[in-house]
Amino acid sequence: MSNVSRREVLLGGGAVLAAATAGGLTAARATVADHRLVIAPYRASLVPGTVTEGMMSFAADAMPPVLRLRQGETVQIDVENRLDEASIVHWHGLRVPNRFDGVPYLTQPPIHSGETFRYELTSEDAGTYWYHPHCNTLDQMARGLTGLLVVEEAEPVGFDQDLPLNIRDFRLGSDGQFIDLFKARSAARGGTLGTVSTVNWQQEPVYDLPAGSLVRLRLAVTDVTRVGTYDLMNADVPASPETARVIALDSNPVPASLPAAGILLAPGQRADIAMRVPSTEGQELVLTRQSARGPKPLARFRAVGASAGRSLDELKPLPRNPISEPDLANAEVLEFLFGWTPEGAPPIASVCGSLGYTFWSINRIAWEGDTPDPVGPLSVMRKGRSYILRLRNETPNDHPIHLHGMTFRLLRSNKRPLPPLWTDTALLLEGETMEVALVADNPGDWAFHCHVIEHQKTGLTGYLRVE
Ligand code: C2O
Ligand code: CU
Ligand code: CU
Repeated sequence: MSNVSRREVLLGGGAVLAAATAGGLTAARATVADHRLVIAPYRASLVPGTVTEGMMSFAADAMPPVLRLRQGETVQIDVENRLDEASIVHWHGLRVPNRFDGVPYLTQPPIHSGETFRYELTSEDAGTYWYHPHCNTLDQMARGLTGLLVVEEAEPVGFDQDLPLNIRDFRLGSDGQFIDLFKARSAARGGTLGTVSTVNWQQEPVYDLPAGSLVRLRLAVTDVTRVGTYDLMNADVPASPETARVIALDSNPVPASLPAAGILLAPGQRADIAMRVPSTEGQELVLTRQSARGPKPLARFRAVGASAGRSLDELKPLPRNPISEPDLANAEVLEFLFGWTPEGAPPIASVCGSLGYTFWSINRIAWEGDTPDPVGPLSVMRKGRSYILRLRNETPNDHPIHLHGMTFRLLRSNKRPLPPLWTDTALLLEGETMEVALVADNPGDWAFHCHVIEHQKTGLTGYLRVE
């Protein structure tokens, strides 16, 4: 009873609430959402011959499902929490109304054990997105709570198949069981790396695909720590532009398609690759990540059957997402310094977890996030106005800086040429100063943090307000 009534209080409007008023509680409970995610304990075999205990998933008995939406369509997603700790779901990269952004205390209460919360999402943007908790974030993501979300273009662009690839590590020992999920020593540096690299919860999966067909690979790096450089290899060389091209980064089409080689992806970032499967049965292309020991194979794409004879040139270009163009001439500049914690700021107790210490800060304010707000927004932006965010990294580490609720454009860097890409997560290199621009068109409080989760949870978090 208490769960039901609390849930209805949290629903915040829409059809269900109307039904509840008209027909009472029974009517409200009978209304079925379009999708249901069940946050529950899970076990899987990640290391051959072992079963990993203590995993978590967004389904009672499967790895996190790929959620598919169509551009412009409104969907309701019920999230039921069957863990014995609080959780919440954030839709990474989606420009949703603030109350459905899934950040505890900032946008809604945590979803407590036994509760269900209904999200309502509409995406005007197509592309590859993902979802994850924002409460007990490090632990829950490390244990498996990272799923992919695809927003399909209103009009098909001509692929034969769509293959989402959820790329991440797990920190497991040789017995397949979790080892310490992080080390304080590493949290103060680059973050703690996983030990077992997976694609869709498998080590080096092989995908059999029709020979000569066109496949859209949707790479999403959902790892808590690892920054990597990815290549699509044809034998020992990167695939040629006739075989593979990057067509979108972080959900947004790239101006000219890029070779599917040397793709730098940090936690939270995505790349869509248009791939033509080899014509000859048995031939394969391999997704690899660069490492000191040479390219590490992550997934294989193997041709089966007679060639469909398709060509990448048959694809329609991806339509641009309807993101407002910032007015750079009249934009106000906001400064953000990513650096060290000034002095041991005390951690704040929260049902959403704390690592118990801070190392990092934004503008010298350390907040581990996912707790009641101690200090207010880092900046207040006026709705509809354009801003340039100057992001300055004074640390010797790289930080993928992520903003909720709005998409920004890369402008320039003091270290490298920047393509004019739209993104929600920008990798800020060691010692780099980068400028990005946006129109503050989505009202609310929007989390702004590093997506190396140990950094996020030890101070590299804040939020921006649009009003
Ligand atoms: Cu994907 Cu606040 O995060
Ligand atoms: Cu996000
Ligand atoms: Cu960081």
